[in-house]
Amino acid sequence: MAESPAPGSALLARPGDFAADGTASAALPDGGRVLLVHDGDHVRAYRDHCPHRAGSLGDAAGRFLDAGSALLRCDRHGALFLPASGECLAGPCQGKRLTPVPVSVDDAGVVHLAMQ
Ligand code: FES
Repeated sequence: MAESPAPGSALLARPGDFAADGTASAALPDGGRVLLVHDGDHVRAYRDHCPHRAGSLGDAAGRFLDAGSALLRCDRHGALFLPASGECLAGPCQGKRLTPVPVSVDDAGVVHLAMQ
């Protein structure tokens, strides 16, 4: 269900910013990056920071999904993460999680950073 963003909340992505695979990347106000991924009717958001050795998960082309599965993949050493929870299912950081970022999605499908 869509939510109304809080006044002054930061816009992270518009629907057209998402790649065909349902992922997008955006800057956070603190200078970090957030990885956005469609998960059914939800948009999940995680810091684009691998719990293994840090750094972006994406490959050189900016892709975040594992080819042939619906899992997020770190391009550095191949760790695989569940989009719904950020849990690492396989790879060198198995059992660790991506750091969630609270977001809201408005009626137009625009993703905003949720105010805390
Ligand atoms: S830095 Fe992501 S799996 Fe190693």
